[in-house]
Amino acid sequence: MNRRHFLHAALGSAGLALASNPLWAAINHGGHAGHASGTPAMPLKMAPGNISLLPVNALPAGQPHAILFRLPNLSSKPAVVAATITAEPYEAELIPGKKTVVWAYNRSIPGPLIEAFEGDTVEIRFVNKLTQASTVHWHGMPVPADQDGNPQDAVPAGGERLYRFSLPVGSAGTYWYHPHPHGDTSEQVYRGLAGLFIVRAKNDVLAHLPEQHLVISDLRLASDASIPDNNMNDWMNGREGQFALVNGQREPVITVGEAQRWRIWNACSARYLRLAIPGRKIILAGSDGGLLERAQEVSELLLAPGERAEWIVAGPAGAVSLMALAYDRSKMGKVAPEQDIRLASIQFSQDSAAKLPERLRTLPPRIKPVAKKRVVFSEIMSMEGGQHSMQFLVNGKSYDMQRVDLTSRLGDTELWEIVNDSHMDHPFHIHGTQFEVLDTTLKGKTTPASWRANKDTFNLKPNQSARILITQKHRGLRMYHCHILEHEGQGMMGQVLVK
Ligand code: C2O
Ligand code: CU
Ligand code: CU
Repeated sequence: MNRRHFLHAALGSAGLALASNPLWAAINHGGHAGHASGTPAMPLKMAPGNISLLPVNALPAGQPHAILFRLPNLSSKPAVVAATITAEPYEAELIPGKKTVVWAYNRSIPGPLIEAFEGDTVEIRFVNKLTQASTVHWHGMPVPADQDGNPQDAVPAGGERLYRFSLPVGSAGTYWYHPHPHGDTSEQVYRGLAGLFIVRAKNDVLAHLPEQHLVISDLRLASDASIPDNNMNDWMNGREGQFALVNGQREPVITVGEAQRWRIWNACSARYLRLAIPGRKIILAGSDGGLLERAQEVSELLLAPGERAEWIVAGPAGAVSLMALAYDRSKMGKVAPEQDIRLASIQFSQDSAAKLPERLRTLPPRIKPVAKKRVVFSEIMSMEGGQHSMQFLVNGKSYDMQRVDLTSRLGDTELWEIVNDSHMDHPFHIHGTQFEVLDTTLKGKTTPASWRANKDTFNLKPNQSARILITQKHRGLRMYHCHILEHEGQGMMGQVLVK
């Protein structure tokens, strides 16, 4: 059945236009009654689809690019980074003259930037002042499983805990942290909870370059400036608000004098960023888990939700734009056509050139895998008791926090085939380690990766598959999931136990 027909049959002639249609109350949430697998969870919060929103220009644009708030290190011991992060709701003034209740870390949106060096021990006290359980998950970082904010290790509302881990040599990179409680991750992130983590190498070959940090996040504000719950379309396609912000600002102005190193995070729940600087090339120097072996010149770079990149930015004096170009990720139902968005303007105040070493890094040689695994993302629409329901599955199952889906041996290098057997793009993410993409296959055509890179999040187009090499270096339970947080929350997640 073709896709349109499939949707039509599944939804009836009312189609998806009826955003408040009660049948959507039945969209599955982590496996509801009637499904053999999955952890029973609360029904989904569902806002109507026709809430009136603020116009995009309600947020002032054109301000100088904000610097991220850096969390001060409270430790006096060498090689120890200690700090407290507190998640709490508070009233922020995002729109001049209006109050918005946001949930944020240390009253900061984006959350604070934590910086540490390879070899450091990190001790973060987490205080949960939310009315929901939460965790802090260190996205992409090689931290032990019991320190990684798994849904099983929830910190109750009003509770606190200490996260403690050390950063191995070779882990330098651009990471982030966000909540990972069972079922509530997407809400906690879209209300404002996400922070940044940079691990630095002591012998960083780009240490001479000044840095800029661009955290791209998504925000939806109703006309009263409140943050509405997810609607039906959000639960299907992932949430995208009317604002795509850079460090919490709309279209800030970034000034570049001498060549700079940029770190860019896609911290959006679901928005894909096809980044480009029209008229100029991008010099890509790093990925999720640190530097590439050599810088690469590209004309655009797709960053799926959860992915990061490092760029070298230099060029002739002049003004240009940082764009997120329209990207069709095959959303379901009636959705607005994708549009180009201007994320920021870049003012090159002088001519500059990037002087880079020929080799940025040497990745260790590829290890021959000793085991194979296959992970398949799929979507199913079904009828149950006269109600339609949508399921987002991994290997045919909805997430169950009690179930171990796969097991791996500590230190074994494995070849995983990740398959997107569905109609829309899904970014694959796994906890605890970085992986290397070997190749991708689409319509029978296999394409080797253009360069070697340490990745923890990787997008798969509909019917595309990828082969990755992966080694887990800590024992314990690790999640892998789609990083469209609404899909993860509805069960598109599995668990591998590393023994
Ligand atoms: Cu960024 Cu399982 O998460
Ligand atoms: Cu993660
Ligand atoms: Cu998905």
